[in-house]
Amino acid sequence: MVAGNWKMNKTFQEAEELISELIQEFEKSEHGCDVVICPPALYLEMASDYSNDSGVMAIGAQNVSEYEKGAYTGEISAPMLASMDVSYCIVGHSERRKYFGETDKQIALKIERLLENAISPIFCCGELLEEREAERHFEVVEKQIEEALFHFGEEEFSNIIIAYEPVWAIGTGKTATPEQAQEMHAFIRRVITNKYGEQVAENTTILYGGSCNAKNAKELFANPDVDGGLIGGASLIAKDFVTIANSF
Ligand code: PGA
Repeated sequence: MVAGNWKMNKTFQEAEELISELIQEFEKSEHGCDVVICPPALYLEMASDYSNDSGVMAIGAQNVSEYEKGAYTGEISAPMLASMDVSYCIVGHSERRKYFGETDKQIALKIERLLENAISPIFCCGELLEEREAERHFEVVEKQIEEALFHFGEEEFSNIIIAYEPVWAIGTGKTATPEQAQEMHAFIRRVITNKYGEQVAENTTILYGGSCNAKNAKELFANPDVDGGLIGGASLIAKDFVTIANSF
């Protein structure tokens, strides 16, 4: 799978242009993976209309409320997303943890709301630079996964996608090496095996995110435990994003 996280970029007109360009390119290309785009929430309806017509990509949101409905000014609920044909939602991105103070507890609630509404969460985890330098990266990622996900039963867990995004690699141009990505992805799969067994772990999609681009995607995706990418900056350029989707 490749998922494009547009973050807070593009006006409506620019977003519409990018989506039509992507659809044209994907209709021509032979990509053998699932493609998801996660535009800003305001554009989800437009993106859903395009994706329903073409069938070449699915639509994801970048965030969801931990509450189901009610007096929560400015929030968007999981039932609202489901009613717009949104099939995925990014949760626990490091930017949300850092700038909006999201906690593991809130992230767990958001995931519950999504699963109740048949939306697959794309759960982000990853260590800070100082945590890697202190060789605490495995411990940090394991704790994030345990706290946000491990209260779910096997069936619910099997709808969750994991994105390993080392924080030091996001938007910095400093990609993890293919070895570093493989090592962490294999570790995450082991952690899942210990909790849910080998079958569930084998079937879990684990994406890599953090300065993944048209040049390095092939090398990253060639690793046995890297099942695709969560792409930020490079998903804003149609040609680059299509090249990434064709990198398997
Ligand atoms: P980046 O962002 O590809 O721009 O590093 C990835 C992400 O934050 O999901």
